[in-house]
Parts: sequence; structure tokens; C-alpha cells
Amino acid sequence: MVQSPYHLPVMADEVVAQLRPVSPRLIVDATYGGGGHTQALLEAFPELRVVAIDQDPDAIAQGPAGDAVRLIKANFATLDQIAEEICQEETADGTPCIDGFLFDIGVSSHQLDEPERGFSYRRRGPVDMRMDRDAELGADTIVNEWPVDDIADILWRYGEERMARRVARAIVAARPITDTEQLADVVAESLPAAVRRRKHPAKKVFQAIRIAVNDELGSLELGLEAAIRWTRPGGRVLVIAYHSLEDRIVKRRFAAGTAGCECPPDFPVCTCGRVAELRLPVRKPLRPTPAEIATNPRARSALLRVVEKVDS
Ligand SMILES: C[S@@+](CC[C@H](N)C(=O)[O-])C[C@H]1O[C@@H](n2cnc3c(N)ncnc32)[C@H](O)[C@@H]1O
Repeated sequence: MVQSPYHLPVMADEVVAQLRPVSPRLIVDATYGGGGHTQALLEAFPELRVVAIDQDPDAIAQGPAGDAVRLIKANFATLDQIAEEICQEETADGTPCIDGFLFDIGVSSHQLDEPERGFSYRRRGPVDMRMDRDAELGADTIVNEWPVDDIADILWRYGEERMARRVARAIVAARPITDTEQLADVVAESLPAAVRRRKHPAKKVFQAIRIAVNDELGSLELGLEAAIRWTRPGGRVLVIAYHSLEDRIVKRRFAAGTAGCECPPDFPVCTCGRVAELRLPVRKPLRPTPAEIATNPRARSALLRVVEKVDS
């Protein structure tokens, strides 16, 4: 496989292996990025067609990874509409028709490494962090305009930053904050020396602001719901998450779908009528191998969860 300098695909072998039992002919890659997963899938399944989605114009500008790829600039929060249109085209009656969905969520190496995008606390750039450069809300609005309580709230919820209020106050006091280096310094200086010595002090704060700017958790919930809806019976949904907040959403939604009859155990027959819509082909999340982590340290925190739509 030709490796794109844009982004190294994470757990590509595991993704292919989890889709092989489905014999896929039509897959939606909801997070195209550098196209690494799409390319691996096309190599593994020669008859495959891929509908690839990304909200970042930089990802779209690279062009599709081959003739079998249709590239769409969109947020996967709108996946329900996109998948419905695909299945209207693919089937006579618009029934769920997708063999597999892949979400490799979070930011790409390209986004992290380009200082201009403002995602990195290690590189000086504008305080931006929008994956979709056409979106209205940028990180500059949050740090320079939001009330202290709202900033503290996102640092606590999305960064799990224990000193959220203290950091939020420091951000507000330092206004205007004009670049990412200044933001990282303000955060570091607001924290006690003992905290500063562990990890990078601004990591959690940048993560929290990024999640808020891109409404990452809200989009994931909507995207997942749509994927489950438009997967054909026997098809699979795969999600690679990189932190616990994302993974928790995936785990809970998959678990909810696998729950069947909820009648008390002493009922002779089911009266609630509830049947499981999903099954878990692998119970625990899959992790990258040590060899992959050695060549691509950004794979370190990846967790791949897989769910299969039950034949109805
Ligand atoms: C980790 S990268 C994917 C890399 C890709 N799998 C590859 O192998 O090159 C995540 C990509 O998903 C995109 N993305 C994240 N959230 C999105 C969303 N809600 N809608 C559409 N694209 C999204 C980002 O712009 C980024 O390009």
C-alpha cells in the first residue's frame, strides 16, 4: 500500500479483517482524511465502491483514491441524508443498502502538523481548530469571547481538566489571545508546577476546545445513529476512537443495540417485543499491535469497536 504523508491509516489490517466476512461491495468511509483506509479497502476488495466523506476541504482537495471512490465534502452529522440518497439510488425501495461504515474519528496528522490550522499546542498558529474551514465557530471565539463559566464547562466536560475553572479564569484574564503558543503558555502558567511537569499541560485544554469547536461528540452520536440505520442486515459499522469520551459514546450505543427482550425472566413469552438490532462480532475493542505503535506512535490510544446489524 502506498503510504500518504498526509496521514498514516491506523489499524488498517484490522479494519480490512473485520469487513472481510461481509464481502463488501459498498462502503462509506465517513472520515476520508488522507484516504489511507479507503485505499487499503480498495486493495483488499477489488469489486468495492467507496463513498468517502470529510468535512475538511484539505482532505477533499487531495482527490479520490481511485475511480471507485465518490468523495463528498460534508459533516458526518448529516450522514442520515447522505446514506438515504445513496440507498435510494442503489435499491428500488430505498432500504438500508450499505455493507460497511468506517469512522476513524478525530484529527488527521495533516491537521495536527499544519500550524495554520491551529490544532497543535506545540506549533505557533492562529487559534482556529476548525476541521471545516467554512464553519462559523473557531477556537478564537471561544477563548476571546465566551464567558468564563462556559469555558470552564467545556474544559471540564471535554478535557476532563480538574482545574478547569482556574484555567478558564487565566484565559479570560489574558485576552486577547492571538496565537496557539500564547494560549499554551497561558494554560501552562495557570497550573501548579507539579502538574506542569507531567505530560504537556495544555494537551487537555486544546482537546476540549477542539471538541467544542467541531461539536465532535454531537456529530459522532448523529453519525453513528445514521450508520446503524443504513447498514444492511449482516453489514458492519466500525469505529476507531482515540479518547474515552468518544469511545464511551460508541460503546453505549452499540450495547444499547444489542439489548433484546426486556421482560422479566419468569415471563413464559416475550411481551415487550424488543429484539436486538445489533450483535458484537468482537466483544472487546481491538487495539493496535506493538509493531504498529512503534512505527506510528499516534496509533497508541486507538480503540476499534465493531458491530454487526442483525439479519431481520
Ligand atoms: C483520523 S483522520 C482520518 C484518516 C483516514 N482514515 C486515513 O486513513 O487517512 C479523521 C478525518 O476525519 C475528518 N472528520 C472528523 N470529524 C468529522 C465529521 N464530523 N464529519 C466529517 N469529517 C470529519 C477530519 O477532517 C479528518 O480528516
